[in-house]
Amino acid sequence: MLTDLSELQARKSSGPPLAMLTAYDYPTARLLDEAGVDLLLVGDSLGMVMLGLPDTVGVTMADMLHHLRAVRRGVRRAPVVADLPYHSYLLPGQALHNARRLMRAGADAVKLEGGVEMADRVRVICADGIPFVGHIGMLPQHVREEGGYKKKGRSEKAARQLVEDAQALQAAGACAIVLESILPAVASEITRAVSVPTIGIGSGKDTDGQVLVTHDLLGSFPWFRPPFAKPETNVAAATTAAARAFIDAVRR
Ligand code: KIV
Repeated sequence: MLTDLSELQARKSSGPPLAMLTAYDYPTARLLDEAGVDLLLVGDSLGMVMLGLPDTVGVTMADMLHHLRAVRRGVRRAPVVADLPYHSYLLPGQALHNARRLMRAGADAVKLEGGVEMADRVRVICADGIPFVGHIGMLPQHVREEGGYKKKGRSEKAARQLVEDAQALQAAGACAIVLESILPAVASEITRAVSVPTIGIGSGKDTDGQVLVTHDLLGSFPWFRPPFAKPETNVAAATTAAARAFIDAVRR
């Protein structure tokens, strides 16, 4: 079980693989922390699974701070990573300002989406002593420009670019990198090309860890489930059944 971000690096060489889950509220964060998850992510996926938005594009800093504070109250051990939402890191100064706000609200590290083109923002964040986690591959904040959630690294050129993105993030100071929806062979190549841990989602098994949106693990958001997500339970069905039992009891 990870207790501190300084232990991240050793997990790349010695294992076991890192297990990261998202949390957006106090009880979930507390349960996942007590269950022994290595890392918690207050992801901007909260826009969809908590706020009912169509994607992560509409998530604001105010949303992130609100949910991050709730998560912080529930967590004793696992390091908490918080997302910088869309348009909160357009320039290095803005990225640093908002990264500091997330840290003051209880994050242990911040994450933003992008590779080489984000290196200047990552450098100022890391130079300020703020631990940083990268995120490359499918970038949900760009889903509208991309016209959907597409697999990344399909051509040789695209695969090479992803390796360069990961290396640029590492050189800028990233302590780990999320690989989202990347062809497994390419995710494996990236994992071998960097010395910091990679944490995959929909990118095959050959990464240094895995991350999942907790709603996809619990089956609590039945209206959209990514193809790679294998729910371990069906909270949606249990909720519906409990609500119907209550309704019946009241009406009986
Ligand atoms: O916001 C999020 O939940 C994420 C994961 C998909 C990695 O960034």
